Amino acid sequence: MVDIRSFRTDDAAAVSGIVGRCLREINSRDYPAEIITRMCAHFTPERIEQLAGERQMVVAVEADTVVGTVSRDGNKVFTMFVEPAMIGRGVGRRLMNHIEALAAADGHDHMETGASITAHEFYLRLGYADVRTSETEFGFNYILRKPLAARMPE
Ligand SMILES: CC(C)(COP(=O)(O)OP(=O)(O)OC[C@H]1O[C@@H](n2cnc3c(N)ncnc32)[C@H](O)[C@@H]1OP(=O)(O)O)[C@@H](O)C(=O)NCCC(=O)NCCS
Repeated sequence: MVDIRSFRTDDAAAVSGIVGRCLREINSRDYPAEIITRMCAHFTPERIEQLAGERQMVVAVEADTVVGTVSRDGNKVFTMFVEPAMIGRGVGRRLMNHIEALAAADGHDHMETGASITAHEFYLRLGYADVRTSETEFGFNYILRKPLAARMPE
């Protein structure tokens, strides 16, 4: 059973590990090696801990093991990653439902995300719609939005 809870400082190494494995095993299909290497170097445990201090970061946990993460700054979505072996089992949807509900409870009327090429179809499936595209230090991204209805976090 997968639970969603707030990030704790001692999750930093596990979250960094998930991000690194996703980048090398999944996102590397859509992005050049140079970008993957740069992103892996960026998302160290120290950087994850710093980001968790600047944003609201949550983790998905199965039997005490962190299997996914996402964070938000207001209504903006960041660092959405699911352990490669757990992909396709609804963890990403659970994490997104959770932070969307938190943003809605704060009064936001829409959510916005910057999606990798890899995650674009996932966000479309969750009801997000394309707004524009962007080029970042981490390569090509889609910017998508989804209207939020008022609801409580799970
Ligand atoms: C993108 C990602 C977070 C999705 O997480 P996940 O746990 O596999 O997603 P879920 O199982 O909750 O899928 C939710 C829905 O999206 C669909 N979906 C997910 N990935 C999809 C894809 N690549 N193409 C088409 N549909 C997809 C699922 O079929 C599911 O649909 P359903 O609930 O109607 O059956 C995960 O694949 C991942 O971590 N990828 C690598 C890292 C990455 O790109 N992160 C995003 C950075 S912007």
